[in-house]
Amino acid sequence: MKIPPFEMERWQSTWEHRVAVNLAESGVEPLALGELMGEDDLREVLRTPLGYAATQGSEALRQAVARLYPDCGPENVLVTTGSSEANFLATLATAEREGPFVAVLPNYMQVWGLARSWGKAVPLPLRENRMWQPDPEEVKAAVGPGTTAIALSHPNNPTGVALTEESRRGLLEAAEDARAWILSDEVYRGAERVGEATPTFWRASDKVLVTSGLSKAYGLPGLRLGWVCGPADFVERLWALHDYTTITINKLADVLGRQVLGPWREKLLHRTRAILRRNFPVLETFIRENDLTWVPPQAGAISFFRYPWQVPSLDLADRAREAGVLIVPGAHFREEGYLRIGYGMEEEALAEGLGLLQSVFDQVAGA
Ligand SMILES: Cc1ncc(COP(=O)(O)O)c(C=O)c1O
Repeated sequence: MKIPPFEMERWQSTWEHRVAVNLAESGVEPLALGELMGEDDLREVLRTPLGYAATQGSEALRQAVARLYPDCGPENVLVTTGSSEANFLATLATAEREGPFVAVLPNYMQVWGLARSWGKAVPLPLRENRMWQPDPEEVKAAVGPGTTAIALSHPNNPTGVALTEESRRGLLEAAEDARAWILSDEVYRGAERVGEATPTFWRASDKVLVTSGLSKAYGLPGLRLGWVCGPADFVERLWALHDYTTITINKLADVLGRQVLGPWREKLLHRTRAILRRNFPVLETFIRENDLTWVPPQAGAISFFRYPWQVPSLDLADRAREAGVLIVPGAHFREEGYLRIGYGMEEEALAEGLGLLQSVFDQVAGA
């Protein structure tokens, strides 16, 4: 087995702390604990012995996660180190069944990379000319009786667009007919700039695994807290696999996670949406003034747009990096001619980053 590089994560890991402005980030400006914690919270943290946490997540934390979903109990939840571990375990466990793994693309590309290394990956494209929805004919062609799973990011990274009800139903029906799993990565759910929370796939059929965590909608990636929700017997299997990866999350994340999903939750979600709404007009102006083409993102602090120049996206991203701003090339999502930029940072950082990017675009347009 040869696991291909996770291009976007490698790119970010290599450069994110070496540029003046990071517009490759997909979450909002993270919070410091001091902005959240009261005296009582602090006392509880100081009292917490730093032993191993319950390896599936404490009962209280799993209950707090379960409350986010309809008809979900702590037995349906495994707590993980970020949603990336949740995705890893969900992919590993479902792949115990032979058969192709369908990935709705573009997406975060983690599941795609893993499935490729097992020689099982089948792409199912989202089409920009269909507002980043799948073509029903292509769904039928990609998903068949042997299909192991359909993996998607919902709302989508990199586009920030959610599936329409019609697309959602189409994928569900295809999965049910094939007796395939739906692996729905919902880490951007709750970070809607406009409208209601994106409908979850949870309980939409009996073969659904939902992964998520605190990194995006809650603005707390440094806590490294994620989860996977699934049928209770399957969660037992995921828990056993967890013994091979990180065993457990860190104890403080378990303690703080309960607060995040309890008393702090509304404040955090409100803050995330407020940042998105505050920064969006700045981004929109940038897109308009540069004649870029996009479907405006609905959720997450990300935007994905097409540029008019005949330059490979990696070259553009390299030039931007040399100018001091990190962005993600569309090539990392198998979408040449596109770029992804995040807009969830402090206003000054966003303005500075877009200014640097503007100078690169001006050069390319004038060349
Ligand atoms: C769709 C998606 N899933 C998972 C992750 C990883 O998140 P975490 O920090 O929770 O591991 C990301 C990070 O960008 C993401 O975009």
